[in-house]
Amino acid sequence: MEKEQITTASSLISPLNEVMHDIEKKQITVTTPLIPPLEEYISYLDDIWKRKWLTNNGHYHQELEKALCEYLGVKYISLFSNGTLALITALQVLRITGEVIVTPYSFVATTHAIWWNGIKPVFVDVDPVTLNLDPNKIEAAITPNTTAIVPVHVYGNPANMKRIEEIADIYGLHVIVDAAHAFAVEQNGQSILNYGDLSILSFHATKTYSTIEGGAIVCHDEKMKHRIDYLKNFGFAGETTVVAPGINAKMDEVRAAYGLLNLKYIDAAIDKRHQVAIRYREALKEIPGISFMDDMRGVKHNYSYFPIFVDEAVYGMSRDALYQKMKDDNVLGRRYFYPLVSTFPTYKGLESSKPSNLPVATKAAESVICLPLHHELNEEDVERIINLLKQ
Ligand SMILES: Cc1ncc(COP(=O)(O)O)c(C=O)c1O
Repeated sequence: MEKEQITTASSLISPLNEVMHDIEKKQITVTTPLIPPLEEYISYLDDIWKRKWLTNNGHYHQELEKALCEYLGVKYISLFSNGTLALITALQVLRITGEVIVTPYSFVATTHAIWWNGIKPVFVDVDPVTLNLDPNKIEAAITPNTTAIVPVHVYGNPANMKRIEEIADIYGLHVIVDAAHAFAVEQNGQSILNYGDLSILSFHATKTYSTIEGGAIVCHDEKMKHRIDYLKNFGFAGETTVVAPGINAKMDEVRAAYGLLNLKYIDAAIDKRHQVAIRYREALKEIPGISFMDDMRGVKHNYSYFPIFVDEAVYGMSRDALYQKMKDDNVLGRRYFYPLVSTFPTYKGLESSKPSNLPVATKAAESVICLPLHHELNEEDVERIINLLKQ
């Protein structure tokens, strides 16, 4: 007994050393929030305190809607308290029912918003290059109950909207785009938010552009904007008129002001992310078994994520082992999007959730790690991550 205790104690020394070593290493997170300078924000707060108008389409709410329309190159935008409520409301405003075609390769909120509306999600596999909804597989999933298609611009890479819209036109379906990752992304000189009936954005703290919590619906005509605005405010269309069973999904002044200020810093942040992505690509192309996504032709990217794909047979280490190795070194990558939404208890019983229906998405979910990518990474951080992957 005594002897065993001694052995245990001595065997602790080396792991302890390793732990101490790790503690010394700076933690690198997958992202870091875009936070405007406090002094500037305080002057905005000061103004809000004076105005005493804290929510319900206040001064900063109106200013941010205007500024975002201009910055993003879109006609109408309605701010929301988060992206999930924006998506739930987008489905409501178009009175979507029955079945909706959706990608499983996304954050859970995409499918949850469909489910919360009492609609059946029908999963369709993704394209192997972009990991966005594969237009070639959509038609086979359409039934008499299908009313809409919900593509996601995953990682900010545009889905094939031209083909998706053609299919929607033929079958008389709506297109509601989850553009939560696609703030400021353009294709052929145009905002990708101008596709589809509606697009939703998320301004969550983990997103490239943030209002801490927040989101928006982008639409293309004024009437639709009014209907969205009624719905996000309990359905009120006037002081005493309630036109629909709306919800409370309004953005408050404190967050709108934060967002307005962040618009001053977003271009520099995207530029910094771009520089990191360039360095990752240059270094990772030398590592057998690691692949990544290239920029798409004609697309202005926002570099919101940097997914890599681990081919275990070639790389000599599984995705999960690499993920753990990074974690042990205090480098926190994320396995976005794993597990696949279609494998969660709520959805796994659906016919469309069978892995045989979703081979591309299933493989991607099992091989992906998103590397740290944000505006505060310095050269030393990036080289440390690259060296970890090389070892
Ligand atoms: C693809 C996608 N859709 C929807 C959401 C939901 O947005 P929010 O967190 O603002 O509710 C997120 C992110 O959180 C997301 O990544």
